[in-house]
Amino acid sequence: MEKVRIGIVGAKFAADIHCDSYSRNEQAEVVGVADIADAGELINKWRIADYYRDYHEMFKREDIDLISVCVPNFLHHDVAIAAADAGKHVVVEKPLATTADDAKEVVNVCNKNGVLLMYAEDWCFSPALRRAEEIINEGAIGKVLFVKAKEVHNGTHSPYAKDKEMCGGGSFMHLGIHPIGWLLYLIGKGNNPVVEVSGKMTGGLAANFVHKDNGGEDFGMGMMRFKDGEFALVEGNYITVGGMDDKVEIYGTDGVIKVDLTFGSPINCYSRKGLAYSIEKTDHNMGWTRPAVDEFLNLGYVPEMKHFVDCVLGAKAPFYGVDGRAGVACVELVKAFYESNETGKTIYGEWL
Ligand SMILES: NC(=O)c1ccc[n+]([C@@H]2O[C@H](COP(=O)([O-])OP(=O)(O)OC[C@H]3O[C@@H](n4cnc5c(N)ncnc54)[C@H](O)[C@@H]3O)[C@@H](O)[C@H]2O)c1
Repeated sequence: MEKVRIGIVGAKFAADIHCDSYSRNEQAEVVGVADIADAGELINKWRIADYYRDYHEMFKREDIDLISVCVPNFLHHDVAIAAADAGKHVVVEKPLATTADDAKEVVNVCNKNGVLLMYAEDWCFSPALRRAEEIINEGAIGKVLFVKAKEVHNGTHSPYAKDKEMCGGGSFMHLGIHPIGWLLYLIGKGNNPVVEVSGKMTGGLAANFVHKDNGGEDFGMGMMRFKDGEFALVEGNYITVGGMDDKVEIYGTDGVIKVDLTFGSPINCYSRKGLAYSIEKTDHNMGWTRPAVDEFLNLGYVPEMKHFVDCVLGAKAPFYGVDGRAGVACVELVKAFYESNETGKTIYGEWL
């Protein structure tokens, strides 16, 4: 197989990211998209040949190798399982599912069908975070002791993500899962499990800080401790105005690394009139801005989709952090943080 032929389910925000990333890979071709709603914008932008209202119809095609699951969270389970049962390899957007049981079932069905399951945690591919990892691995900051990591912005654009059941939670499930997944990859490494978590969240609806129409929390933070002793503080919230703010701080015995994933642009721009776009989830682009140069590359999506295409071409499993095992652990961890918030207790376990 020289080219991987791809079908995408869902035709909005995440689908556009996947299409952009696949378009930069000569060994990838998006041949179909399925959405219950109009997909015209995506189809025209990326010149996709075929559109399906029912994704099951698309899965009947024998010439499609890989399915990208870009539908709302509550549908990840059903769509991934239908794709695996049709013999397709599957990329599933985060979270792997809205419950741990559903996430495990996705893993089992993919294994049973002998198809690859790839969990789309883009932070594991971010060039800046990869460089930070190299610096850690060469010993330049000594032993890592503590990491602070967050993905925060001013609220989800997706109506589905505002519904607690459809999302599987609120901002912590939707955004906090990025730093959680990346920390499993960076610190957990497949052999150093998280053993302790405690979380604090707002209560959803009227008990939210700002987003009173969101069923899930609009603010969440949590502490996690790894078996080897490292601590991490993770945040996922919708109360941060001024643009999506993804930041990481890594503290070691002999050094510190600070990474600014979204405001780290080399461009400083002052515009009296305002520019059309600067970074994700800003509501004003006048005055001084830091226009992103290539968000999809910097957040890791482009190398992420390349890795997944390479996995399909080489019939090899994705690495720990973007595999089904890490996908399950991420959902379990978010649920453990919720349990901690609800009970007021620290939750002990073993998540990897
Ligand atoms: N990795 C990331 O950084 C990242 C970024 C954005 C979104 N996501 C994930 O991608 C997924 C989609 O998010 P989004 O922001 O694109 O949501 P969205 O609401 O913008 O788009 C969802 C699309 O799915 C379609 N859809 C709903 N039910 C469907 C069905 N039964 N069959 C086919 N299509 C259906 C909707 O019509 C809509 O076009 C979510 O799981 C989200 O967590 C990940």
